[in-house]
Amino acid sequence: MSEEIRVLISEQKVNERILEIAEKINEDYKGKSIHMICVLKGGVFFMCELAKRISLPVSVDFMSVSSYGDDTKSSGVVRIVKDLDQSLEGKDVIVVEDIIDSGRTLSYLLEILKQRNPASLKLCTLLDKPDRRVRDVKVDYTCFEIPDEFVVGYGLDYAQKYRNLPYIGVVEL
Ligand code: IMP
Ligand code: MG
Repeated sequence: MSEEIRVLISEQKVNERILEIAEKINEDYKGKSIHMICVLKGGVFFMCELAKRISLPVSVDFMSVSSYGDDTKSSGVVRIVKDLDQSLEGKDVIVVEDIIDSGRTLSYLLEILKQRNPASLKLCTLLDKPDRRVRDVKVDYTCFEIPDEFVVGYGLDYAQKYRNLPYIGVVEL
């Protein structure tokens, strides 16, 4: 089976927008250090690009979760497959995600992370599909809101493919 990929957001547009968001974060966190948490695997490409444009001290940590449910619908109950290496106690934490879809995964994850006593906890996402939301999630930084289409690239996959595309594309089956 082969698919065509239609460009939705070009590489240049994505990079320009990441710079804008990074500058906003630089302003908002002036004088502080940022502890970035990346949710594997999708968030990793975006987090690297974002972190490179932050002019404050940044530390990073990774976490991997899998949600119980079928392939098309996450149940909202999240199992931690790989937990963070470092404590969040007293840190200014930004969770960096590739996409917020139903919001189930993130609303569950944020509850868990809150209990670890960070000084602050914010959420930054590359993409947001607000039309798909079933769980309320407060997103602090959004690069792009997109319509309800299945997208790939910049970390996002279709059957583990296309994560390495430097732009955001729509899969046309
Ligand atoms: P949810 O917000 O709990 O529904 O789960 C969001 C997760 O579903 C994301 O972290 C992605 O892994 C995946 N996902 C949602 N929409 C897309 C898409 O358009 N392309 C690729 N993965 C997606
Ligand atoms: Mg994800």
